[in-house]
Amino acid sequence: MNFKDLEKIEEDYLKNKFDFILLDLGFSSNQLEDAQIGISFKVDSQLNMNYLNSGFTAYDIVNNYSEEELSRVFADYGEIKQSLKLAKFIVRTRQDKSINTNFDLIEVLRGSGVNFRSKKIHFATQAFQALRIECNKELENLNIFLEKVYNYLNKDGILAIISFHSLEDRIVKNYFKSNSFKKDNFKNQLNWGFEILTKRPITPNQIEIKNNPRSRSSKLRVGRFVN
Ligand SMILES: C[S@@+](CC[C@H](N)C(=O)[O-])C[C@H]1O[C@@H](n2cnc3c(N)ncnc32)[C@H](O)[C@@H]1O
Repeated sequence: MNFKDLEKIEEDYLKNKFDFILLDLGFSSNQLEDAQIGISFKVDSQLNMNYLNSGFTAYDIVNNYSEEELSRVFADYGEIKQSLKLAKFIVRTRQDKSINTNFDLIEVLRGSGVNFRSKKIHFATQAFQALRIECNKELENLNIFLEKVYNYLNKDGILAIISFHSLEDRIVKNYFKSNSFKKDNFKNQLNWGFEILTKRPITPNQIEIKNNPRSRSSKLRVGRFVN
């Protein structure tokens, strides 16, 4: 069940409100290693990247989105500066042959002449992240969840969210900030709010990163629900 459908979760499981909600965003290691899902650019897979089984795939985006839509996805979700140049190249390339696999896409990215962010990460990282976010509607799901969650927390209930990239963390940070409860004042004027318990996000220490390298970009933010 998609966590954006909180009302269904409450209906099915609890018929009550929650004292603690933990959202551990993104995808799991098993999903990363699953060639059928094809999130990783290290394994050649059919262009998919959908780990929520909604059937909407990176293939649909790369082969059917317009130049504008492609550019928006690469700019907004991949923070690729030359997103329009990349979109134009993809649209031109797919006229000759559809782009079917991860490795096909990597060759298109390599041939695009686009100057991807840094040399420290694989040049396909940003484009793959952008396509994954779009086909799983990651940020929409999170925003819809955040719009609803206050209805499902008990007084003093805890909301804890672990994010794995800056786009998610920015949404969580701004959510707690715009709904903060400070000095008996509800920032949102709606008689509910969150006492922010993590002034700074909690991040993994070196030992944890050594034991679990995938945790390196994780950030935990926590708030106590007040109403
Ligand atoms: C980082 S993993 C959680 C890993 C888990 N804490 C563990 O230790 O195995 C995130 C999980 O959330 C699921 N997920 C991501 N977005 C979701 C959504 N909108 N609704 C429901 N599940 C979602 C993913 O499929 C993935 O299994």
